[in-house]
Amino acid sequence: MLSLQLFSANPNPILLNPSLKPVLNHRFLKPQKPCQKRKPAAISSVLQWNRKPELAGETPRVVVITSGKGGVGKTTTTANVGLSLARLGFSVVAIDADVGLRNLDLLLGLENRVNYTVVEVLNGDCRLDQALVRDKRWSNFELLCISKPRSKLPIGFGGKALVWLVDALKAREEGSPDFIIIDCPAGIDAGFITAITPANEAVLVTTPDITSLRDADRVTGLLECDGIRDIKMIVNRVRTDMIKGEDMMSVLDVQEMLGLSLLGVIPEDSEVIRSTNRGYPLVLNKPPTLAGLAFEQAAWRLVEQDSMKAVVVEEEPKRSVLGGLFSFFGG
Ligand SMILES: Nc1ncnc2c1ncn2[C@@H]1O[C@H](COP(=O)(O)OP(=O)(O)O)[C@@H](O)[C@H]1O
Ligand SMILES: [Mg+2]
Repeated sequence: MLSLQLFSANPNPILLNPSLKPVLNHRFLKPQKPCQKRKPAAISSVLQWNRKPELAGETPRVVVITSGKGGVGKTTTTANVGLSLARLGFSVVAIDADVGLRNLDLLLGLENRVNYTVVEVLNGDCRLDQALVRDKRWSNFELLCISKPRSKLPIGFGGKALVWLVDALKAREEGSPDFIIIDCPAGIDAGFITAITPANEAVLVTTPDITSLRDADRVTGLLECDGIRDIKMIVNRVRTDMIKGEDMMSVLDVQEMLGLSLLGVIPEDSEVIRSTNRGYPLVLNKPPTLAGLAFEQAAWRLVEQDSMKAVVVEEEPKRSVLGGLFSFFGG
């Protein structure tokens, strides 16, 4: 339970809704045999959330996952938050807007199913539904790639093309999706502008290091200039051991620097790399890992337009004779 609390968002760790308390309390308070391990019990109860989060805002929610700096976890976030949303029962279309360097299809294990891309739809070579790739595990999750790997965008392909695409998705016969999630390319050039144009909210992914933070701050300004006011951040690849040793910035420091509301805190987890290589997103792992749970919680908060608070927790007494406090996350 202790480790789960470290990554929790809420005063009531793991739970976002008080209505779930009885289920968890019942599990946690149940007398346990001495040989029983507590951790798996806690994790399995998280998976038995007995309600669907309430969808806030108008649909489709068009969310761009962005960062500025590359390699901080945008695509990992898109895949895991997207599939979590689908598992919660929402219809999701994930758009890979990373032109030329697309890899969302690989993370999802759908690379062999992408026959057509948005470029071909716009050229009139195929229909939109032919370019949408339905996930093999969750049929309410679909992937849409902008272009073929290593290709360049045709001249004239810009934000308006993505706005058209979002309108076309809204007008589909089976109805508009609940979420359209756009995996943004790194950088702040034309590809970035194209990806953010149709969005009305953004999730900024950052790692707790100064280069990533500087880029995130710059991107926040650009998003605001574009009229996107609903910006939340995910702090990824957090290492508690390094924060304790004061070798890594705490989540509280990150939040103070960026001044954005916090959607989630994702720990550094070697399972992320393993799942990336297997094309099997982390949130589908059984039993779940801490990073998988953290992505699930971020998806819950996204649905309910909720956020979490970075807090100060007590320093381990052994580490410092002065005792005192240092900033950390959770609570
Ligand atoms: N929480 C994490 N723990 C460990 N590795 C991670 C984590 N998040 C991302 N990674 C790894 O970092 C690399 C870059 O992630 P990716 O999602 O492709 O970033 P981006 O889309 O921002 O370029 C990948 O190899 C991925 O597996
Ligand atoms: Mg990426």
